[in-house]
Amino acid sequence: MTITELLPEIELIEDGKLRSLVAETWKRAILLGGWDESDLQIIPFTLLIKDIHINLFQHTRAVTLCALGVYNAYEKIYRDKNPLRKDILLAGALLHDVGKLLEYEKRGGEIVKSKRGKLLRHPISGAALAWSLGVPDEVCHIIAAHSREGDHVKRIPEAFVVYHCDFANFEPFREG
Ligand SMILES: [Fe+2]
Repeated sequence: MTITELLPEIELIEDGKLRSLVAETWKRAILLGGWDESDLQIIPFTLLIKDIHINLFQHTRAVTLCALGVYNAYEKIYRDKNPLRKDILLAGALLHDVGKLLEYEKRGGEIVKSKRGKLLRHPISGAALAWSLGVPDEVCHIIAAHSREGDHVKRIPEAFVVYHCDFANFEPFREG
């Protein structure tokens, strides 16, 4: 399966260079994380919810579509006051959790937190990987700031949207 088949929303990025950088970052993370193609469908998007049957790619797609929904609503209602840059927003949403491929590992048939993941959570490893491949700083900022790590920096508008869309695709799935 290609990255575009796993994440068809990559095609929504208009800038060709950014589109390839997003695909390249995912490819590199799969390689560095040592994942087989067959693993990709079973990597959960979180280890914090037991027996969650939503994989990392489904989560990433839903977060991206939520972010796009916000963008479209702003375009429709606020028009020239829309503070969001579409490509930056989409690339950030598509890459926000790429570091999870480094934070997790398969051990004894189970997916668990890796040694690296204990030291460097996915916002850090994801931003570092993306940055090393030449992904623009704004997109690396979205990755780095999409979780609580970002509470200590001033988030750009696109990072705010991804942060909230990510939590909107996490909290409702928690039990109780
Ligand atoms: Fe996420």
